[in-house]
Amino acid sequence: MSERILVLPFDPTGIVLDRRRGLSQQLYQALRGRILDGRLSSGTRLPASRELAEQLGLSRNTVVRAYDQLYAEGFIESRVGDGTYVSHLEKISTRLSTGLYSRLSTGLSTFSPNSTEVLSSCSVSSEPLERLKSNHLPPPKTGAPRAFRVGIPAFDLFPFDVWAKLQAGFWRNPDPAHLGYGDPAGELELRELIAAYLRRSRGLSCTAEQIVITHGAQQAISLCAQLLLDPGSRVAVENPGYRAAGHAFTMAGAEVIGVPVDNDGLDCAVLESLDNCRLAYVTPAHQYPTGVTMSLARRLALLAWAERHQGWVIEDDYDGEYRYSGAPLAPLAALDRQGRVIYVGTFGKVAFPALRLGYLVLPTSLMREFSWARALNVRHSEVATQCVMAQFMVQGYFQRHIRRMRRAALARRNALLNAWPREISGVGAMPVVAAGLHLTLPVQGIERERELIEQAERVGVEISALSNFWLPGTPDEGKSRAGLVIGFAAVPESSIKIAVEQLKKVWL
Ligand SMILES: Cc1ncc(COP(=O)(O)O)c(C=O)c1O
Repeated sequence: MSERILVLPFDPTGIVLDRRRGLSQQLYQALRGRILDGRLSSGTRLPASRELAEQLGLSRNTVVRAYDQLYAEGFIESRVGDGTYVSHLEKISTRLSTGLYSRLSTGLSTFSPNSTEVLSSCSVSSEPLERLKSNHLPPPKTGAPRAFRVGIPAFDLFPFDVWAKLQAGFWRNPDPAHLGYGDPAGELELRELIAAYLRRSRGLSCTAEQIVITHGAQQAISLCAQLLLDPGSRVAVENPGYRAAGHAFTMAGAEVIGVPVDNDGLDCAVLESLDNCRLAYVTPAHQYPTGVTMSLARRLALLAWAERHQGWVIEDDYDGEYRYSGAPLAPLAALDRQGRVIYVGTFGKVAFPALRLGYLVLPTSLMREFSWARALNVRHSEVATQCVMAQFMVQGYFQRHIRRMRRAALARRNALLNAWPREISGVGAMPVVAAGLHLTLPVQGIERERELIEQAERVGVEISALSNFWLPGTPDEGKSRAGLVIGFAAVPESSIKIAVEQLKKVWL
């Protein structure tokens, strides 16, 4: 499938030529420089030679000569009957790396191609860059959701008309207090509403003075990584688990230790055996990706560990709103009497991920420093979005929407369970799915896992591999680490049924 790429039109502003020197050579250099430093991106349509000559007050021949040279060197290409376009960067960088580079190297100081070939020849290095290079995770999936993308709620049900109305209301007559810099901790009204929501609906006793608004859960986790870790210290993470959290800790210079997860959640006996470890990251309501809920005994053991070691527990409650029988579980933070739990919440799973709105609930002792770190990173989250979300909550839309999302996720879960084949070779039985937006099925081995996922991809169905959620180098203890991680909330029931029918064609 070809991707649609948006390209800005060519703008000759700023091309100033010295009339005393060769004009076509200068024009060639000006255009080449813009292509190399990205001001003229791949796919940009250049004006016809006659048009550009007119715009710049040059003869047409001068422009034709400059274009000819760029064409010969592969910077531009012509499409029959259509016009002249900037070539695709890969083509240019391939030529650069095969010798032309040296001829062109003068004036290349801002050249920033995304070609790994050219990048790898560059000698820039630093510890953070090296740590990033060790990140072999595939990037998050982008584009419109397909069955069975993980981490996507039923955002087709989001009341965008209401949101648009509230947003229009904000911009129609903006309060001057909302147009300068905001509070780095986030807008007070939104923090008060979040605190009230957490007290009332989640049983978490907290106030606005403990809340910092972030760009989603991921930034909340990154802030913890920046502020709570000494270089070289250890962090315990669930294994398998949410790898992007582990990477945030690695980037902060910590050593990430995977702790096994069983049917009760994180194995606290293993955690207890770790030296030099004072931070644990967990997803107790619905372990990511296995779906296990942490038992009360483990919750108490985890809190006791944190108290004994004067450590911290990061509780990532990314999809805690989704519980299909009874009320959502009270967070671990609600049991914490010593202020050792940092609670991470997100609007991404009840509204939509692109909103980039989440929050931290912190012990008051950490508030000032987290707010400062936020101010140093990005000042604060976008004020308009925060104010619109506050209105969305004040006017009762948020609670109504959560109820609707829970019902929709349940209906989608049921559609999947009803349509799912009774037996698939090498794949374990459907688990009980009491919470969350995804489920995980065990598979007998990595090869079978890969085969099933490739077959699914061939019929347009997206399934994630459980083997990707383990830390690299996890010892193989005879238990298969393979599985299928299936998000069931991203698309409506009818699409779920069609997707399962497609899977049956290639799997059975
Ligand atoms: C366990 C877990 N935590 C955090 C996040 C990130 O959430 P956000 O989009 O709010 O940054 C995800 C995203 O899928 C997740 O699965």
